[in-house]
Amino acid sequence: MKFVYASRNGHVEGIVNRLDLQEAMKIKDGSEKIDGDFVLFTYTDGQGIIPKIVENFLAENKGIKAVVGSGNVERHPDTFNFAADKIAEQFNVPVLAKVNMDGTEAELKDIKAKIEAMQ
Ligand SMILES: Cc1cc2nc3c(=O)[nH]c(=O)nc-3n(C[C@H](O)[C@H](O)[C@H](O)COP(=O)(O)O)c2cc1C
Repeated sequence: MKFVYASRNGHVEGIVNRLDLQEAMKIKDGSEKIDGDFVLFTYTDGQGIIPKIVENFLAENKGIKAVVGSGNVERHPDTFNFAADKIAEQFNVPVLAKVNMDGTEAELKDIKAKIEAMQ
């Protein structure tokens, strides 16, 4: 399994680093290419939207198998982690977790276990 993430302000990147995922690829502008299956980690952008770079990436790379979202429940309670939900629905894949900002250690442990179960 490969891992791909988008992170504007470092929260998602921190999650990926704490999970110690080997060779996770960062989506920088959406033009990246990846072969095979991957788990996507993403933030949510303005009022519940999928970040444009993530949308562009997913239009070209078809191997998504699951999604993990990081949002902000205090500032965006009505659209909390909507990007993860929208991607899951659009591509018919499970949401492994929807965390607030950095996520808790317990949440990360749960994500790790779910990823291992997918390998
Ligand atoms: C302009 C803007 C809009 C946002 N909109 C949402 C939102 O609708 N829902 C949500 O859960 N989080 C929203 N967030 C919060 C981010 O998704 C959240 O802070 C996330 O952890 C950022 O990840 P990053 O630090 O890796 O970029 C928004 C943040 C910004 C800056």
